[in-house]
This record gives sequence, C-alpha cells and structure tokens, in this order.
Amino acid sequence: MKRIGILTSGGDAPGMNAAIRAVTRRALDKGLEVFGINYGYAGLVAGDIFPLTAADVSDRIQRGGTFLYSARYPEFAKVEGQLKGIEQLKKFGIDALVVIGGDGSYHGALRLTEHGYNAVGLPGTIDNDIPYTDFTIGFDTAVSTVIESIDKIRDTATSHERTFVIEVMGRGAGDIALWSGVAGGAEEIIVPEREFDIAEVAQRIKEGREKGKKHMLVVLAEGVMHAQEFADKLNSYGDFQVRSTVLGHVQRGGSPTARDRVLASKMGAYAVDLLEDGKGGVAIGIEDNKLTYHNMLDLFDNKHKPDLSLYDLNQSLSR
Ligand code: F6P
Repeated sequence: MKRIGILTSGGDAPGMNAAIRAVTRRALDKGLEVFGINYGYAGLVAGDIFPLTAADVSDRIQRGGTFLYSARYPEFAKVEGQLKGIEQLKKFGIDALVVIGGDGSYHGALRLTEHGYNAVGLPGTIDNDIPYTDFTIGFDTAVSTVIESIDKIRDTATSHERTFVIEVMGRGAGDIALWSGVAGGAEEIIVPEREFDIAEVAQRIKEGREKGKKHMLVVLAEGVMHAQEFADKLNSYGDFQVRSTVLGHVQRGGSPTARDRVLASKMGAYAVDLLEDGKGGVAIGIEDNKLTYHNMLDLFDNKHKPDLSLYDLNQSLSR
C-alpha cells in the first residue's frame, strides 16, 4: 500500500477535521501518500480528489464541520456508482481508504473492500448510534452544545414558571437526549428506546409544580415525535404553560471538545495502522476505553443500544 484516500460522508460531526488530520499525519509519518476526497462518495465518483500534505491539515483540529465537505449519496449503493468510484481510485493510484461517517457510509466502505480496495470506517456522527463503540466522534461536542442551550432555557423557564419541551437530534437514537437530559438536570427524558405514558408525564409535572418547582424541562429525542406535538399533548392535561424549542442543526456545529479531538486523533491514527496491516471492511470503535475494530457485517447485524441506566438515574434524581 502506497497511497490512501480519505473522505467524510453523511451528516457532518465536530471532530471530523481532527480525524482527517490524524489520518493524514499518521500516513505521512509512515511514508505513505494521502489524497483527500471532497463531498464523500459523490466526490469519489466525480473524481474530486487532491493530494493532502501535513500543512493542509494544519489549523484544522479545532474547527467544526469537515473541510473535505460531506454529502449523502444513495447512488453509491448501486454497482454502477461503485464502479465509477473504482475507476477514480485507479486513476489516482489510491490503494485503500478511510471513511469517516455513520453506518450508512460504512455500506459504501464494505462494497469498496469487496471490490479489492480495503476501506476502514471511523464512527463520525453526533448521534452515537453505531454498534460496537461506546462513543462516536462528535457526540460529546453535540451534548455540550445541547446543555449550553438547556441552561439558557432554564433561566427563562424559571422566570415564567414554564414547562419547556426541548427537541434534540439523534435520528432514531436517544443518546443525545439521555446524556444532555442528565447533564442538564431535566425533569423528563423521552427517548424512542423507552416507552412512556403522556398522562404519567403530565402527572409528574403537576406534582413537581405542587412541590414548588419553578421550571419543568422535558428533553425529547427527535425520533419520538416533534416538540410541538408533544407540547400540545401535554397541554391537553392542564395549563403547564408549555413552550417548545427545536435545537436543530446548531447541534452539528462548533469547535470539537477535547474528548472528541482526542477520540478522533486516536481513531484516525489507528485506521492507518489497520490499513497497513491489510485490514479492510472493518469499523473502528472505542470500548471500555480501548480501541477495537469489528467487521462491518457484524455492525449491520447489530443495533446500537443506548445507556438506558441514564434514564432510570434521571427518574430518581429529578423528583
Ligand atoms: O445523523 C446526524 C443527524 O444530525 C441526525 O441527528 C438528524 O436526524 C439528521 O442528521 C439530519 O439530517 P440532515 O442534516 O440531512 O437534515
């Protein structure tokens, strides 16, 4: 292996730049050449590919987003798309790839490996919804962003004695809601992985009010329902002065936290080591604070499980 390519795909996540930097610097350190691929698989197919030097990744570690840009490109699921991508890999002399993204991006990586181009996946998504890793790159930053907002919402909620429903991202996963709910001292956390009864939630809010609580914060994972719909349902149980806030894409931006930068640096360097070892079709994770890798097929067969002990913890701390 002489030349590796690197791309970011799917929703961007803070720490992706730190991962690109780590892959580039580790590869250069080993005497390999590195090529950046813009716009994920779309850029691969279009040949939007350029050499990366150590200087190109300087002043990137602290920046949010991805300087290689990202795209969702379902066309790469088809063989025609993959063959066009391979033509470009041949043209640029790239032997192996690092793909940073969510598990959708891993499907493309596995296909390339099957075509003879080893690809290693790094979990880059704020959702933390990838199996065989305790944390994904970007999750810690997203949670920090959410709690900054929760703290601000709490100020106004207290002043007006209101209930707030705060919708956070996570697609089908409740991780952001669970972590930010506990860290933000929310009264209720609503996630897709735990059933809830809206009448019981309303009853608990009523009891909190009677105990003299001045604010009631409900952190709602977007995969359950929209914040306004939840607020309307709550309102039908009494006058809780409910307001709803959707935090949206603010959660995807910003300078990565130290934890995300370190995670991205460790994983990026490890990806190059694995490629050098001839590994492909594998995804890197961090489990019990150790770097691990698993076959991508095992990831597709398994569903990520959030830490639901946080839900139970919050139930007992928020009364
Ligand atoms: O996967 C990351 C994520 O931010 C999810 O939390 C969210 O559901 C989705 O992407 C939003 O996608 P888009 O940016 O394409 O609207």
